[in-house]
Amino acid sequence: QPALLWGGRFTGAIDDLMFQFNESLSFDKVLYKADIRGSITWAKALNKLGILSDDELRQTIDGLQQVEREWEEGKFVIDPKSDEDIHTANERRLGELIGPVAGKLHTGRSRNEQVGVDMRLWAGEQLEAIEDALRGLLSVAAARAREAVDVLMPGYTHLQRAQPVRFSHWLLSHATFLKGDLDRLAGVRERISACPLGVGALAGNPFGIDREFMARDLGFRAVHPNSLCAVADRDFVVDILQWASLLMAHLSRLAEDLILFSTAEFGFVQVADAYSTGSSLMPQKKNPDSLELIRGKAGRVMGQASGFLASLKSLPTSYNKDLQESVEPMIDCVQTVSNCVRITQGVLATLAIHGDRMKAALTDDMLATDVADYLVRKGVPFRQTHHIAGAIVRRAEEAGVSISALPLSDLQAISPLFDADVAQVFDFERSVEQRSTVGGTSRSSVLAQIEAIEKLVGTQ
Ligand code: ARG
Repeated sequence: QPALLWGGRFTGAIDDLMFQFNESLSFDKVLYKADIRGSITWAKALNKLGILSDDELRQTIDGLQQVEREWEEGKFVIDPKSDEDIHTANERRLGELIGPVAGKLHTGRSRNEQVGVDMRLWAGEQLEAIEDALRGLLSVAAARAREAVDVLMPGYTHLQRAQPVRFSHWLLSHATFLKGDLDRLAGVRERISACPLGVGALAGNPFGIDREFMARDLGFRAVHPNSLCAVADRDFVVDILQWASLLMAHLSRLAEDLILFSTAEFGFVQVADAYSTGSSLMPQKKNPDSLELIRGKAGRVMGQASGFLASLKSLPTSYNKDLQESVEPMIDCVQTVSNCVRITQGVLATLAIHGDRMKAALTDDMLATDVADYLVRKGVPFRQTHHIAGAIVRRAEEAGVSISALPLSDLQAISPLFDADVAQVFDFERSVEQRSTVGGTSRSSVLAQIEAIEKLVGTQ
């Protein structure tokens, strides 16, 4: 029977399946670097207390760095019988490398605080990279919006043609959602940054360890304020999962629009070969798999969020092993989101934008609101103008022509206030340009939105 770290009070051997069931090294090994960083800081704090001499500290740090190199170079040999998690694996190896002095490292420390530190350090770093990726995505969205600012397309509600808008305006609508995700991410990152080191298994540290020093040394913004809470606290994981769920909802909605717009029926855009795949059976096929995977993975992340919250909701005070169930969803969610953001950026950067197809999809009935607004400017109450414009749409339908093709006399028969200048209304560019208030689809409003994003992500 292998020497398990906690085996002192045990006489019986652990069941094989139970060992596998319990182990977390197979997934928490990605935390190796964070675990070693935490241990180095811990060793320094023990040295400040006189528990580790200067010489022992040096040996411990050298040993830990050696363990890190082994992981980095893929040379770390896992002991499948005793390495239960990343913390025990690293400590076991350290002991092999530096001998009994390694036994001092865990003084006053619990894996309950270690796992919290490791997860927070790892996630903090990953989220910083995701934040950069999100900025990259926004800057590509802004660049494509700027490039295509002249392209008009049908705007939809209920997926029915509604009013003309700029393609850029549509793209910026998605960028605006993503900007919200970027804003919220700052809060998530802030809350992750509380250091649990020094809280012990649940009750605190009996040696007077310097918690402020350790938090500072590891780059945390704060010390976790309550030991019982600190070892039980996976709110940062819930935070990440819920934040990611909404981000993924946004990426999925963008993906859905693009999948639709890239069908032959729409033909507004084309996804580049680099982000498409073919069919094993139908030679003509090019499928937007990148976008479909993003849409599908949104469900996966949302499932992780509700799944882990369900694991969390009835836990008694302080640490319980159920909390280990936070590790896999956190790692998977962060990796999924990172890929999805970067793939979305690639899809957008390489997307072919077919302005001619969008223009061809514009129809005069989408200007019926502008016809109503024409009469509003002549003093007619909008409720009446809405009716009048509706009658015009019906009349055009009966005559089998578009509303712009109706003779002026037909319009005047419906309302005497129509003049020859109504012809100006039947102009998509004019319709779009009228919507020039903040957040509208006019050129100036769209450019202002682009500039705001460029400024936010530092591409201007
Ligand atoms: N692998 C464990 C986790 O993820 C580490 C903490 C184990 N602590 C304990 N007392 N068993 O939660």
